[in-house]
Amino acid sequence: MSVEEMKKAAQDKAAGAGTGERRRSSVTTEKVKLNSGHYIPQVALGVYKAPNDGTTENAVKWAFEAGYRHVDSAARYMNEEAVGRAIADFLKNSDVKRDELFVTSKLWDADHERAAEAIDESLKKLNLDYIDLYLIHSPGNLGADARIKAWKDLEAAVDAGKIKSIGVSNFDVEELDHLLAECRIKPAVNQIESHPFFAHEELREATIARGIHVQAYSPMAQGAALEREEIKAIANKHGKSPAQVLLRWGLQIGNIILPKSLTQSRIEANAQLFDFELDADDMEVLNALDEGMKMGKLGPAGTSAPGSRRSSNSGGAAGGKLQMTSS
Ligand SMILES: NC(=O)c1ccc[n+]([C@@H]2O[C@H](COP(=O)([O-])OP(=O)(O)OC[C@H]3O[C@@H](n4cnc5c(N)ncnc54)[C@H](OP(=O)(O)O)[C@@H]3O)[C@@H](O)[C@H]2O)c1
Repeated sequence: MSVEEMKKAAQDKAAGAGTGERRRSSVTTEKVKLNSGHYIPQVALGVYKAPNDGTTENAVKWAFEAGYRHVDSAARYMNEEAVGRAIADFLKNSDVKRDELFVTSKLWDADHERAAEAIDESLKKLNLDYIDLYLIHSPGNLGADARIKAWKDLEAAVDAGKIKSIGVSNFDVEELDHLLAECRIKPAVNQIESHPFFAHEELREATIARGIHVQAYSPMAQGAALEREEIKAIANKHGKSPAQVLLRWGLQIGNIILPKSLTQSRIEANAQLFDFELDADDMEVLNALDEGMKMGKLGPAGTSAPGSRRSSNSGGAAGGKLQMTSS
């Protein structure tokens, strides 16, 4: 074994690669291994609709203090500077090192033909030397050629050390396959809407089947259906909140989840997900809620057709849904 291979083996061992490519990084969040070889915390703080000011700085700070190590931002959210300030402040005032944090940003649709510049702008706003995960935010409307040109710029940014892992968001199967045919570096994730009311099961399965992790946005359906009796009953059974039940469902089906909140108590509660487990009955009830309730405007119309639901009879903790087993 070469010195490099030994180093890699030691890193993988420390990262828990021998235990199903997962490791517990803190009391609140676990990591999974992407096809890029990098580990990603399975829970992130999402910062969509968070302002570029102290509100977001506080939210990110509270999240880090609660044990989150992953923030999901985007150029389009126009809050990268606030996120960057919170990161700089946290690194300065804690023992946590930059490589223990995981920062995501995204290329907006209008920038597909100038991705290299957009990446540099995001790095500057975030005040970072590198971004952990950078996504094409959506297929956009500049066409397939522009999308592939953007991807080549993302690949070049990986080569240049500006980005660790690259991926896509809101891509349908056809768009994924087109990219897979053209790419040198495979997308590590497809970030799509996924929650019990709109599991997006066919696209989830297609994404996983291609060796790409699913990141689930709007994992609490934007808070729109937390009062549903079925959810409340499961929450009461486990002594948890409805939001925690929806988030735990996402974790159990293998999604990387991105709950957003600007409220400290919710930020803290939304990460307390590793001290209970939904059983097969709970998963069956939750899977049956899939009514195609799509919250977001972006992304493929999706497929929550009854045909995409699966019986959880043999599904156990994953409720019968397909999961990524390795990268
Ligand atoms: N790639 C994409 O196209 C895309 C699209 C949408 C979202 N995303 C990402 O995914 C993240 C999450 O998605 P999202 O923001 O649409 O939806 P979400 O996380 O499902 O829901 C956020 C909403 O739920 C509320 N909330 C948070 N915790 C709660 C709790 N414990 N109890 C009750 N309500 C709670 C929040 O309010 P407060 O803030 O007031 O607490 C906010 O209104 C985004 O922030 C973004 O990072 C990506």
